[in-house]
Amino acid sequence: MNLLEVEHVTKRFGGLVAANDVTFSIRESEIGFIVGPNGAGKTTLFNLISGVLHPDSGTIRYQGRDISRIAPNEAARLGIGRTFQVVKPLPNLTVLENVMLGAFLRTSSRAKAAEESRGVLRYLQMERIADSHASGLPLPMLKRLEIARALATKPQLILLDEVMSGLSTAEALALAETLKKLPEWGISAVGGVEHVMQVVMSIADRVVVLDHGTVIAEGTAKEVVHEPRVIEAYLGSKYKELGL
Ligand SMILES: Nc1ncnc2c1ncn2[C@@H]1O[C@H](COP(=O)(O)OP(=O)(O)OP(=O)(O)O)[C@@H](O)[C@H]1O
Ligand SMILES: [Mg+2]
Repeated sequence: MNLLEVEHVTKRFGGLVAANDVTFSIRESEIGFIVGPNGAGKTTLFNLISGVLHPDSGTIRYQGRDISRIAPNEAARLGIGRTFQVVKPLPNLTVLENVMLGAFLRTSSRAKAAEESRGVLRYLQMERIADSHASGLPLPMLKRLEIARALATKPQLILLDEVMSGLSTAEALALAETLKKLPEWGISAVGGVEHVMQVVMSIADRVVVLDHGTVIAEGTAKEVVHEPRVIEAYLGSKYKELGL
């Protein structure tokens, strides 16, 4: 069953069309990635799905329900979690306390929030730093902290804006290994990335390629890298290096 359906969604900022008649869907327990260069409209789509922005036209459905006009807190309550491209933990709190801020969406018990947050930190292999202050964490850990905070809200769909950016290949591979397990927890994910990266392709069930707000290809990783428009826009003759 489709968990998320984006249907003919258009969003303009003045004369700029940031999302142009965008249609794609994500099934339950599926990992999708939206690929597109700087300014392609990835963050705009995440903002539309999480209620930060509303489409000018088109419909966004989640669990079959029209969520095109809901507020961000309603989206979170319905089970749509997200990370932000610019990581922004509260620096004076510990890692655990930052994650608990997410958990408080579902519980007002401090003990329960702490217990659940520790579980999320374990999953993300961050237990060691649970009691460290969030300020001064290296980027890979800040990225994981963003994911932890979103997971603590117990989402069924998590939107991961640029989770891989700034990571080395080894760090990205390690994160991909972890994200691959999300469907086992009944969680679907949609990530945003700038490049067609091999590590992303290896975990993506579905890839949507954006160019200036327009979907130029959608399908499995294998399908999209063989699309002439994707090869032309992104890959040149190098796509064979992806080994797909
Ligand atoms: N609030 C806004 N007001 C005006 N223009 C905006 C706004 N948000 C985004 N844009 C414009 O919409 C287009 C799409 O931006 P968006 O941030 O969605 O792209 P992106 O794919 O996330 O890019 P990046 O790789 O930089 O994160 C860009 O041209 C951007 O300048
Ligand atoms: Mg962005």
